[in-house]
Amino acid sequence: MEYDFSRLGFSRGDVCVVTGAASGIGNATASLAARSGLAVACWDMDEERLDAVVRAIKDAGGDAASILCDVSREQDVKVAWDATARIGSPRFLVNNAGPASSAGYGFTEGLALGAGSMVAVTEGWLVGFSEVAEAVTFTASIAGNLVATASGSAWYAAAKAAIAAYAREIAVHRRGKPRANVVAPGITVTPRTARLAESEAGQMTINRIPVGRFGEPRDVAAAICFLLSPAAAYINGVTVPVDGGLSCVA
Ligand SMILES: NC(=O)c1ccc[n+]([C@@H]2O[C@H](COP(=O)([O-])OP(=O)(O)OC[C@H]3O[C@@H](n4cnc5c(N)ncnc54)[C@H](O)[C@@H]3O)[C@@H](O)[C@H]2O)c1
Repeated sequence: MEYDFSRLGFSRGDVCVVTGAASGIGNATASLAARSGLAVACWDMDEERLDAVVRAIKDAGGDAASILCDVSREQDVKVAWDATARIGSPRFLVNNAGPASSAGYGFTEGLALGAGSMVAVTEGWLVGFSEVAEAVTFTASIAGNLVATASGSAWYAAAKAAIAAYAREIAVHRRGKPRANVVAPGITVTPRTARLAESEAGQMTINRIPVGRFGEPRDVAAAICFLLSPAAAYINGVTVPVDGGLSCVA
């Protein structure tokens, strides 16, 4: 079922950046943001899949542009903000791109890639567009913020906890200009978790999830777009689990 997201209060044509827009949660968020009336600057480092996502949004009547960017590279981020500015003033930011917990990074490197990249993207926005910045939503995880997943990726949990703390700092320090909130997805079916979803271990996990299924990217996208929107004008500095209740289970 498709929900009507056209009445969240966004002004039609306002620009929203979505990082990691070529796949999974970022793809679903970019599509939903376009359906909510935003012009979406879709950032990703996977050119082919990014172009396909942007084409699909446009075919559905939405407004979107591809911006090729590796968010872990300072120069790329700078160039991407310049390219975004040529589309319009980016009032909204979805800071979503991040490495998978299965990537075998050491602690310091993983923290820099997982949290440092999101900080660098945000700082570029706050410095370049502080006058127009309305709201940012970060994609963290229940891992690190709410539960220990025993994944063996301490860097991933630490990066997600760090990003939630960073969002709270912005929320308070900048007094709501922009508002900053966080979504903490549970296991969400995207290319990086597809094998788990089909495995026996995956089925056992599903049995523990109160709503009885893994999340879909659109479940997380809905929370992101709501938190970003004027409808959430009094929500600032929160971390919202989007996990079917998994983090409530002892
Ligand atoms: N899928 C889950 O179960 C889950 C759970 C909790 C949190 N998350 C978080 O959600 C976010 C999105 O994950 P997903 O599952 O949708 O992943 P995904 O692999 O489906 O998509 C990630 C996208 O980000 C892009 N990307 C990765 N690194 C990048 C970089 N350095 N620069 C630019 N683009 C980059 C990839 O090319 C890809 O298009 C991540 O931050 C992840 O940690 C996912």
